Amino acid sequence: MKKLNGNLVNIVNLLRDGQYHDGTSMGATLQMTRSAVWKTIKKLQDYGVQIDSVKGKGYALLTPLRLLERREITRQLSHPNMEINIFESIASTNDYLKSHKKCKGVICCFAEQQTHGKGRLGREWYSPFGKNIYMSCLYPFQKDISELAGLSLITSLAIVRTLNSYSSDDCFSVKWPNDVTYQGKKISGTLIEIQAESHGASHAIIGIGINVNMLGDNVSIAQPWTSLQLVTGKYIDRNELSARLINHLMSYLAAFASYGLVSFKDEWMKADCLTSKVIALQHGNNEVVGQVAGINEQGHLLLQLENGVMHAFSSGDTSVRKWAR
Ligand code: BTN
Repeated sequence: MKKLNGNLVNIVNLLRDGQYHDGTSMGATLQMTRSAVWKTIKKLQDYGVQIDSVKGKGYALLTPLRLLERREITRQLSHPNMEINIFESIASTNDYLKSHKKCKGVICCFAEQQTHGKGRLGREWYSPFGKNIYMSCLYPFQKDISELAGLSLITSLAIVRTLNSYSSDDCFSVKWPNDVTYQGKKISGTLIEIQAESHGASHAIIGIGINVNMLGDNVSIAQPWTSLQLVTGKYIDRNELSARLINHLMSYLAAFASYGLVSFKDEWMKADCLTSKVIALQHGNNEVVGQVAGINEQGHLLLQLENGVMHAFSSGDTSVRKWAR
């Protein structure tokens, strides 16, 4: 695990204009030796950042890049006192917060790269350097675990709200239980891990992955996916996106803590891409097919099965289908 190195950020900020900069003048501007500049460039290249190096001209970024900066995120927050940690590389931001000492306040942790990013159901979450959002938030609740059933749904709604702030037509949807999609392609996922404490309290680790500036090349993801840059056609500043995400997440979590999932049911129905659709639900080794009739008070998926019976499911993986006849 490595905290984000300031030299890396400074070099990227110098190269952000896309022009060539020579090592000596970069070193003079940043008060670094030429060899320290070279080492930092090399490190960025090792992380997969495309930097051209031409003798006599210097270095230039071949694709746009801006790294995460705590100051940039914090200055755009509605509650700027929150603890924010940014890592250059980490196994998993969720695992980091799990091993973190207990704490009363909210902590948000970001990484530029995860070496063992975790998805739901034991899957891997593809986490290349500098492209996307990998964020985990430790959030204390004065509630028992049993009352936090709808948390992943609320989190998905906060993500949809954040992503829709980049579009004019509210084009992002939730897909039960915790995917966010655009035209059927996944753009974000949530992995929530809850730990119980004494006296009915608990704290949640809310892990969020959003595909932001990832484009088509060399991406190893097994299912249809997209990214915010692919949707909007623009390079996205992840600092601004992170601040918008935290602001929405904090207000959704506070409302959830006070009023529960019921107060979000209409918003869920509006953003949901599965309601009325015939889907297959994979849970454990079983698969059931049915028509989606929304969610119940616990956030469980309501499915009308082929025999007409309505059933609520608390977990599983969903995919749109036709009735098997
Ligand atoms: C899924 O859709 O399967 C859930 C993906 C969750 C990915 C995020 S990225 C930040 C946090 N750290 C992890 O290791 N996983 C979550």
